Amino acid sequence: MKKTHTNADMSHQNGLAYKLSMLFKSLRDNGIKTTIIKVLRRLEYKRKGIDFSTQNIYDLTRTGEYQEHGTALVSTSVDFLTQLLGDLEKCVGKPFNKELFVDYGSGKGAAIIHAKTLGFKKTIGVEFAKELHEQAVQNIEKLGLEDVESIYADATTHRLANDISVIYLFNPFDEVVMSKVIDNILNQKKNFNDDVYVIYGNPSCSILKEKFELLDEKTYISGARAEFYKV
Ligand SMILES: C[S@@+](CC[C@H](N)C(=O)[O-])C[C@H]1O[C@@H](n2cnc3c(N)ncnc32)[C@H](O)[C@@H]1O
Repeated sequence: MKKTHTNADMSHQNGLAYKLSMLFKSLRDNGIKTTIIKVLRRLEYKRKGIDFSTQNIYDLTRTGEYQEHGTALVSTSVDFLTQLLGDLEKCVGKPFNKELFVDYGSGKGAAIIHAKTLGFKKTIGVEFAKELHEQAVQNIEKLGLEDVESIYADATTHRLANDISVIYLFNPFDEVVMSKVIDNILNQKKNFNDDVYVIYGNPSCSILKEKFELLDEKTYISGARAEFYKV
């Protein structure tokens, strides 16, 4: 069982103590009404058996050459993605195209599912851990969503469709994989139909600043960070 430096043990996030601390934090930060809406959404997802839980990837079946370069699964919450897309719109200065949202390292499909509910026409996730991809497929089916697709593949092999609008990276891998993914994106740039934006959540690689145009960077009250780029 090999651990990578980027793949920290996140399993405490599935415990009751952690969940209670997040409930109290939400009450403090968002007030009772928003917290109740969030709890109801969670209960609805629980009733349908939707699983976005945090998971280590050491023991999972990973495809491709870069099995030791990925981070553990931590799913994006709908609140965080809402905030990120709102902040992207602010720094772009106008509403951006919402044809296609692609998540590199999409885990159990949380971000592609949330992005679809937040107005993207089509969303695609690329996930190299078979068990996480399979859970994503189940989550999508249980919610009855169309035009939301999880692909079982290594991120470096994914070819973007020409109608790509927003690329999402939630700290999925280290700089070795990131440089290859970025080179692929730049090689395809001439084919893109419109401007393409990148949201990099909890950034750990600096190479994006060299290759893309940095529009803005933010640190949130929660401690989460994000960088916003134009390709
Ligand atoms: C921090 S999680 C983000 C999950 C998802 N993007 C979300 O926001 O809910 C990072 C994910 O990247 C996946 N991953 C790591 N390296 C990868 C690679 N080379 N190709 C595809 N997926 C990868 C991991 O298995 C993990 O599910």
